[in-house]
Amino acid sequence: MTNPTITVGNGANAEATDVADATASPRHHLLDLDDLSASEISDLLDSAEGMLEITGRDVRKTPALRGKTIITMFFENSTRTRVSFEQAGKILGADVINVTASASSVSKGESLLNTVKTLQAMQIDALVVRHPHSGAPYFISNYTDAAVVNAGDGTHAHPTQSLLDLFTVRNHIGDIAGKKIAIVGDVLYSRVARSSIIAFQKMGAEVTISCPNTLIPDEWQLGTVLDESTGFDGLKLAKNVDEAVDSADVVMALRIQQERQDSGHVPTLREYAERWGINSERMALANDDALLMHPGPMNEGVEISSDVAHGAQSVVEEQVRNGVAVRMAVLYALCAPGKSTRVSSGDEA
Ligand code: CP
Repeated sequence: MTNPTITVGNGANAEATDVADATASPRHHLLDLDDLSASEISDLLDSAEGMLEITGRDVRKTPALRGKTIITMFFENSTRTRVSFEQAGKILGADVINVTASASSVSKGESLLNTVKTLQAMQIDALVVRHPHSGAPYFISNYTDAAVVNAGDGTHAHPTQSLLDLFTVRNHIGDIAGKKIAIVGDVLYSRVARSSIIAFQKMGAEVTISCPNTLIPDEWQLGTVLDESTGFDGLKLAKNVDEAVDSADVVMALRIQQERQDSGHVPTLREYAERWGINSERMALANDDALLMHPGPMNEGVEISSDVAHGAQSVVEEQVRNGVAVRMAVLYALCAPGKSTRVSSGDEA
């Protein structure tokens, strides 16, 4: 992937040349991180650095994607991801249209396929999709010439969340290789867990997870280290939270995905908080300057206590802020000028 570097300049007069290298990624979609190389991920994070500078300007606007149309299509609720994709597209000068299942013809029984074909007929450039079914963005990518970005599909993947997590950690501690990352929470149902394990491992981090025995795949066993055959080579499954967070550089708490669970995975939320919740006592086991992360939305008092969620080590709000820059980098990489994203448009602006 060629890095679309961003020239630092005056926001008010920003022109298309702000985005200095208009050579876009050869990739057409961002569906998961598993087939991206560490170098491709680094390139996206480098690009996000330039985007972050733009988001900090008085006038946050560039014409980099002027004339492009981005549709966000959310079949599941979202605050952070939907708003940040919209903001990212608008800062880059694209037209952004939001579609929600309840306000679309899906509520009248239209199929996902016909919805996609309908949107495709309007010559869109990118489709940002959140869907409760794992694999839905892959299905959609077979029926549209627009760039498809997975904004979270079922229990499967949430690639831009994990990119912004990497970006946030990199901005604080530099090279991620060799760093100890503790991920605590619902690994079985969390798309963020899967994407973040992949992302941090690709960048050379040492990842340890901790969760109830009922919230990992059946074939995994707490107290072991996974091998290559699992696809998560070297992933440590701690026996308990204290072991996971011990000397960690990053502690990431994950929400219990109650909307995706059958009942009976955790005893009670109170007991979950006691046994797996991240609080100040547990953070004290991590490195002194360890970062506390949470992808949101947070259930304070369950997987994370309020004092640490809003404490000095928390980078939760920074994750949200960085999400805009990272999603700008992704949209730019997929829709940059010179890259045809529409079947009926041979040339781009
Ligand atoms: N982290 C995340 O996906 O949050 P939203 O559900 O608010 O988008």
